[in-house]
Amino acid sequence: MNSQVEVIDEILECYPEKPEYLIFLLQDIQSAYGYISPESMQAVSDYAGVPITQVYSVATFYQSFRLEPKGEHELRVCLGTACYLKGGQRIVEELERKLNIKAGETTEDMIYTLDTVNCVGACALSPVMMVDDKYETNLTAGKVNKILKNIETE
Ligand code: FES
Repeated sequence: MNSQVEVIDEILECYPEKPEYLIFLLQDIQSAYGYISPESMQAVSDYAGVPITQVYSVATFYQSFRLEPKGEHELRVCLGTACYLKGGQRIVEELERKLNIKAGETTEDMIYTLDTVNCVGACALSPVMMVDDKYETNLTAGKVNKILKNIETE
């Protein structure tokens, strides 16, 4: 298996050494690793000839970029209008309490990352969350607990 440095080098080599490719480089690194580490930001800065502070501002400006590694399972609770009105926020709070983290964080054991999103296209089944790529619908606190238990016994 290639080391992270080798893979980053391969990604860099796909693009010309120019500042205008900054976002593409960050996107590819994120696709490969799920997040952009400080080391990869430095590598992009050196390669594209962009100051590290600018790489950092771009990476923090776009919500789609993550600066921390993700847990094994990603829980994304919908807080779009329909889900919000049907108690989506209570689902977030239940998960925060159960996992002992805040939305946007990852548990210490790196099993869960909790995030919120805006509408995942299943409003009729709200409140909804995505567990990795799977939809969990008509959520209640009880259902959330069952979902977590199922993941733990997988
Ligand atoms: S608002 Fe949650 S799925 Fe549409």
